[in-house]
Amino acid sequence: MINPSSISPTAPIGIFDSGVGGLTVARELFKLLPNEDVVYFGDVGRYPYGGRSKEIITRFTRQDIAFLLEHDVKFIICACNSASSVALEELQDDYDLSIVGVIEPGAQVAVERTSNGRVGVIGTHATIGSNAYAACIHRIDAKIKVFSLACPLFVPLAEEGYIDQEATYLIARDYLQTMHDVEIDTLVLGCTHYPLLKDVIADVMGDKVTLIDSGEETARVALQSLSDANLLNPDASNGKRKFFVSDVPEKFSKAATRFLGKLMDNVTRVDISGY
Ligand code: DGL
Repeated sequence: MINPSSISPTAPIGIFDSGVGGLTVARELFKLLPNEDVVYFGDVGRYPYGGRSKEIITRFTRQDIAFLLEHDVKFIICACNSASSVALEELQDDYDLSIVGVIEPGAQVAVERTSNGRVGVIGTHATIGSNAYAACIHRIDAKIKVFSLACPLFVPLAEEGYIDQEATYLIARDYLQTMHDVEIDTLVLGCTHYPLLKDVIADVMGDKVTLIDSGEETARVALQSLSDANLLNPDASNGKRKFFVSDVPEKFSKAATRFLGKLMDNVTRVDISGY
């Protein structure tokens, strides 16, 4: 819960991810909340999180949050599905401000959209191994059948810009065949990078399957939470956006240009190990 009395509406929103992937969540936030200042941290120096243990992801997540708190943020979005899945529940109570992850928003809308009660979830090994999406879906509706599948190769494909190449189709067909077989009607894209492969995944799954973009839903939850707490920035000027990374900015800037569709050159390197 947000404690509005101690937080200023003009403070920035903080958002973090293991790297560049969280920009798929940030871009939805920029669309919905164009007046908000945003501080983005991408832990590119320790990316990827998706194959790591709970213990390490939790330690990294604490440091990412500590960095954002130093910027006096009013609200934090954990854009990384892997961190949201394995670390967030344990950490949320340790802070005075709201930290939202991407799991609950994605799970909620999947439950609303499914007609046949059969939902697929794809993500990294960490996300799928944690069972966080399935648990969350079952808390909302215990009758829904959830089919979970790790698709780790989608991350490097998206990162390298392989968003509609034949190789991507081959891998997608191979991974997603089992999702066809179990006749899901809704598929949660439970990883920051997967929205970039939406066209390929939609082609492979066919038009009877609805794709859920957790990032889109999380941006909506952020808007709603800030509005409920009277913490939307009343200043109508364009929001300022600052980007920080834990290794050289060049690779992030290049990939970010692809994720956001515009040139990114205001990226600063920080030493996250000190947090
Ligand atoms: N951001 C991660 C996620 O959404 C994908 C990349 C990684 O493994 O760090 O799970």
